[in-house]
Amino acid sequence: MTQLQNPSPLAALDQANKSLASHPKGGISAPDQVTVTAVTHWTDKLFSFQTDRPPGFRFQSGEFAMIGLVDDEGKAVTRAYSIASPHWDDHLEFYSIIVPDGPLTSRLRHVQIGDKIILRPKTTGTLGLARLRDGQRLYLLATGTGFAPFAALIRDPEIYERFEQVILVHGCRTIAELGYSQKIVADSRAHPLIGEMVTRQLHYVPSVTRENFTQTGRITTLLADGKLASSLSLPPLDPAFDRIMICGSIGLNQDIAAQLLEKNFHEGNLSSPGDYVIERAFVGDGI
Ligand code: FAD
Ligand code: A2P
Repeated sequence: MTQLQNPSPLAALDQANKSLASHPKGGISAPDQVTVTAVTHWTDKLFSFQTDRPPGFRFQSGEFAMIGLVDDEGKAVTRAYSIASPHWDDHLEFYSIIVPDGPLTSRLRHVQIGDKIILRPKTTGTLGLARLRDGQRLYLLATGTGFAPFAALIRDPEIYERFEQVILVHGCRTIAELGYSQKIVADSRAHPLIGEMVTRQLHYVPSVTRENFTQTGRITTLLADGKLASSLSLPPLDPAFDRIMICGSIGLNQDIAAQLLEKNFHEGNLSSPGDYVIERAFVGDGI
């Protein structure tokens, strides 16, 4: 397992990739390529795909890697992607946005079974259990593709050993955008090895903001008005018992962090595990 901590996970990966890009073969050696084995389109803006997993590729559930494609000039175009499959799986899975003019996703959206994808070998990220103190409940709060790291974590038995209850909240604009998380949760509950713990310990709370649905409203509102905890018959958020992982837009991350600071939650890191950790689902204002 490669852990890069300094100065930040993303900067460290960028640095690692710059070294690879100066490789005489253009930075894409055979071990840096994987083959697409399945593709599912969920909406006109969201798709997921699976690849084979190189034998030496190791990571912790919740981490991200750089993946990409070679452009028409032979240059590697790579971006950070959370690995949506758990560390024990024999394939890799990714969940992707489609940015219409995006340098990577305008092309990645067309990948098909048998196509080759660049996968850089370094993995890193802040959404790790090692950064959290022990607690009773683990809240996983995601919007949009920010669900991807949690797709891995909710399939990792370690979170059910560390926490009695895991509460996954996925906020999206529309019901259709929940399709991927609904399928992952349903499959996890039915899984022969992890299904029992998932069914017993995972609460899944999908919420939409721009359509009518069983649960509506922004995650920030559900947290602030206490509706989230009360709808699950749980006590209000308390740093003595609750741990939190957050993955969304910068705005969401900042708004939740502000709420948590008010409640006396402390951000965790490897040298000082805390009550919550945050990762950006993407850089920028979103599409
Ligand atoms: P870019 O030039 O990279 O982005 C153009 C603009 O599109 C951005 O400025 C932003 O406004 C918007 N945008 C980019 N990504 C998203 C997104 N996911 N949701 C909403 N708006 C977006 N993307 C994924 O689809 N799945 C992931 O699992 C994922 N994991 C990431 C993990 C980390 C730590 C970071 C920093 C980013 C992650 N991203 C993920 C974003 C990803 O790196 C790319 O930005 C994205 O694939 C678009 O690439 P692009 O080259 O087409 O467009
Ligand atoms: P809303 O529809 O009210 O903007 P996006 O697709 O723009 O990334 O948004 C995904 C989900 O995150 C939407 O439900 C959106 O709600 C919500 N959202 C966006 N920004 C914030 C924020 N700052 N705090 C809470 N929720 C947010």
